[in-house]
Amino acid sequence: MSGAATPPLFISFEGPEGAGKSTQMARLAARLTQAGIGHITTREPGGTPLGMRVREVVLDPSLSINPLPEFLLYSASRAQLVRDVIRPSLDRGEVVLCDRYADSSLAYQGFGRGLDSDLLVDLTREVTGGLTPDLTVLLDLDPALGLARAASRGQPDRLERADLAFHVRVRAGFRALVTRDPARFLVLNATRDAEALAEEVWQVVQERLAGEAG
Ligand SMILES: Nc1ncnc2c1ncn2[C@@H]1O[C@H](COP(=O)(O)OP(=O)(O)OP(=O)(O)O)[C@@H](O)[C@H]1O
Ligand SMILES: [Mg+2]
Repeated sequence: MSGAATPPLFISFEGPEGAGKSTQMARLAARLTQAGIGHITTREPGGTPLGMRVREVVLDPSLSINPLPEFLLYSASRAQLVRDVIRPSLDRGEVVLCDRYADSSLAYQGFGRGLDSDLLVDLTREVTGGLTPDLTVLLDLDPALGLARAASRGQPDRLERADLAFHVRVRAGFRALVTRDPARFLVLNATRDAEALAEEVWQVVQERLAGEAG
């Protein structure tokens, strides 16, 4: 949708399973709509016809997928999404909200599965053309709690079925990513009330929009 003139802004939502990424993204989208600020919402894997097919594959609990092909599948979805959806939207001057992005691969396939971090960073630069979010909202949560939240939604997907130790490494991975690039991250305690979290996200997004317009 189009709306009030604001600078383009790329915002990703990250965190372990069930942390509240989709909840917070929807709440931010509602506030942007209310404020008349042009934006799109999208997600990984997904967001394009190819991405939706990739999503079915990577989340299929009946498949066994090795770490490198798993990373490459996510990367295929990501490359298509950047080129067909995210870049064009930013070029139109919109705010892009993305439910998971490259940090998820670094956390899950890097820290979680043990793939070499430098390799994933290099490949991700190629895959995304170097496009990095302006702001990443990291919803930080004990993975046992997040998995319990996600479980209340129905049958666990392939990633949700991975053992708890994997999810503990993923959470630690996200935190390690913050230390690499602290200015990009808004780290939030995801046990807080969803509306309070949404309000804090909105304050920071408004600051970013005002700051980048100046
Ligand atoms: N701050 C919160 N406090 C308590 N429960 C929450 C909070 N935010 C979201 N939830 C609930 O937790 C569950 C997971 O939320 P949500 O789907 O937004 O998480 P997610 O991070 O997108 O999960 P997934 O990784 O599975 O996509 C939902 O049932 C949601 O209503
Ligand atoms: Mg979600």
